[in-house]
Amino acid sequence: MIWTLKKGMYRAQHRAMKMVSMIVPFPVPALLIGSGSIKNLAENIKVRGVRHVLVVTDKVLMDLKLPESLLESLKDHGIRYTVYDNVQPNPTIENVENGRKVYQKNNCDGIIGFGGGSAMDCAKIIGARVANPYISVRRMKGMFKVFLPIPPFFCVPTTAGTGSETTVAAVISDPATHEKFAISDLKLIPKIAVLDPALMVGLPPHITAATGMDALTHAVEAYIGLNGSKFTDEHAKNATLLIFENLEKAYKNGSDLEARENMALASFYAGSAFTRAYVGYVHAIAHNMGGICTGCPTGWPMP
Ligand SMILES: NC(=O)c1ccc[n+]([C@@H]2O[C@H](COP(=O)([O-])OP(=O)(O)OC[C@H]3O[C@@H](n4cnc5c(N)ncnc54)[C@H](O)[C@@H]3O)[C@@H](O)[C@H]2O)c1
Ligand SMILES: [Fe+2]
Repeated sequence: MIWTLKKGMYRAQHRAMKMVSMIVPFPVPALLIGSGSIKNLAENIKVRGVRHVLVVTDKVLMDLKLPESLLESLKDHGIRYTVYDNVQPNPTIENVENGRKVYQKNNCDGIIGFGGGSAMDCAKIIGARVANPYISVRRMKGMFKVFLPIPPFFCVPTTAGTGSETTVAAVISDPATHEKFAISDLKLIPKIAVLDPALMVGLPPHITAATGMDALTHAVEAYIGLNGSKFTDEHAKNATLLIFENLEKAYKNGSDLEARENMALASFYAGSAFTRAYVGYVHAIAHNMGGICTGCPTGWPMP
């Protein structure tokens, strides 16, 4: 009985959200696409008046020197930056709070999420906390709980999977309770997303495969769910076709820039679909498993 009631409640919520997503226009990030496009981000940030940007990334990417060309072009354009690289895979509330302190200590006025979904999501929630210091990360859980808009925010995905560079969502883990949950708000959509396949060349095959399957799951779940529209169906189909044609190529030859770019686009399309039509049971199960595994020594791969 209680489950029937709960199901009815969720269905009603889904219907309401479907109507909201049809009425309220979703912001769409401006895209910089192509090999080397990362070098064009700084000038686009500068015109928005940002003077000191926090670059949120992780230590693996710093060791690979992946953010170097971005940091150089920021310097060339007279934009100061501070790197916060303490993001762990499946980022935690602690990662966010530490990043927020770094942002405030350095008087930053903009944020770049540079990395996979972990870095981008951590960057989103740092922004949410900077703008809303009286709302804890836990209290932001769910839909539309980010009250004030976040500082100018930009995303540079280095995996082709999560689509976080266009979604309303940021996923965060709490190792204390083993809970992994999403914060969803239109304010978390970045102003600009850079899809630069050259940044993905060094992504190891097993992570290429796993993240590509994440994008495929977004597309399929958005397509088969009850909340789809013409827009989300088309984006989900485009993403699926691109993934079928390119994931194996990118897996077998990481330097195939065309396959990498197509996977980046597929991930973006799948993100555009599921952020409006939602995901389904696969992600519901994955988030619970991810929460249980948060803090595990192996860290990744996690759902
Ligand atoms: N916000 C959303 O809409 C959304 C959607 C799906 C998943 N997620 C979340 O995103 C997180 C997972 O993100 P992910 O799958 O992108 O993995 P990730 O960001 O955790 O990265 C996985 C590993 O790959 C490394 N890596 C990333 N790019 C690399 C590159 N170019 N070369 C070499 N190594 C690289 C990272 O350093 C890390 O060690 C999870 O927390 C998940 O819940 C968010
Ligand atoms: Fe996912």
